Amino acid sequence: MPWYGVETPQCSYKIVVERGGLAKLREYIPARAGKVFVVSTEDVWRLHGDIIRGAMGDLARELLFLRGGEVCKKLAEVESLAEQMVEKGGDRSSVVVAFGGGILTDVAGFLAAIFMRGIPVIQVPTTLLAQVDAAIGGKTGVNLAGGKNLIGSFHQPLAVLIDPAVLATLPEREYRAGLFEIIKHGVIADPGLFWLMRREPQRVLAHEAAVVDRMICDSVRLKAKVVSGDEKEEDRRRILNFGHTFGHALEAETGYSRFLHGEAVAWGMKAATLLSAKAVSLAAVDKREILDCIDSYGPLPSLAGIDPARLAARLKSDKKTVQGKIHFVLTEGIGLVTVRSGIDEQDVLAVIQEALA
Ligand code: GLY
Repeated sequence: MPWYGVETPQCSYKIVVERGGLAKLREYIPARAGKVFVVSTEDVWRLHGDIIRGAMGDLARELLFLRGGEVCKKLAEVESLAEQMVEKGGDRSSVVVAFGGGILTDVAGFLAAIFMRGIPVIQVPTTLLAQVDAAIGGKTGVNLAGGKNLIGSFHQPLAVLIDPAVLATLPEREYRAGLFEIIKHGVIADPGLFWLMRREPQRVLAHEAAVVDRMICDSVRLKAKVVSGDEKEEDRRRILNFGHTFGHALEAETGYSRFLHGEAVAWGMKAATLLSAKAVSLAAVDKREILDCIDSYGPLPSLAGIDPARLAARLKSDKKTVQGKIHFVLTEGIGLVTVRSGIDEQDVLAVIQEALA
């Protein structure tokens, strides 16, 4: 059973990757925990709730549902979940089990971060995107109309349990959306993973178990290492935002309703790759490989109707923009990443126009 450690100044925890591992959930719930609140979505619970029910045995627990979709990732939903927790007897000894995709793990993690000033959360991600990215590293939060994830908190989980077997029921579009975060990991820091994605799309798209497990383990190893070195994203952790600055702007500009997060990141990585060729001399051959790799896991929802100038303006309200300075995560080659500010605004606009063309 592979596991990876996250070690931050405040805490350390395990990320366990194990087929069938959900059945062991109870081992991760502290013996002195009070009531356990499982937060899930109705569709995930319908498909996999029995496993969690069986795993928890006679533990005192309540089940809460979040409505699905990025448009439900908002503060009002957190308030409603917190009210339900109070009504159902939640207190400071309670524990949250976040059981779902990336939206769910972000929202339930944030609920745990602020309920009675903070209670523990165990992250149990059920989508590929959440397994390789969202559920790891303690970022929790919700969106504002003005921007993605603009309200939130770092709240590291007690543990992350990843069971690749649950991906068998994942809709194909959701699976592909997760693949783009894996390509991101390859581009920024793991050439071996990148070339797997580039050269083996048939095996990846066939959900071949050995390939799926490797993509997850390589991603988790990389993310655990980056988060351990820079929990609060003061430096190195920024590399994990490759493609996210443009991607977040796209999501906000389309009212969080057109793209899955991973799809917006895919468009964002294309834009960041084009910008890298202009601003940090990414070689033409590497640029082609990255763009082709992303394209081999499409199609992506169209960018029709998006205004380049409005998108460029949105970059300024991203969290990575500090005192008006936009920080771009760029690539200098496959496996090489750099964070730059002071990029010429004309270059940025030209790249957005090229991506939208
Ligand atoms: N998704 C980027 C991060 O967790 O830092």
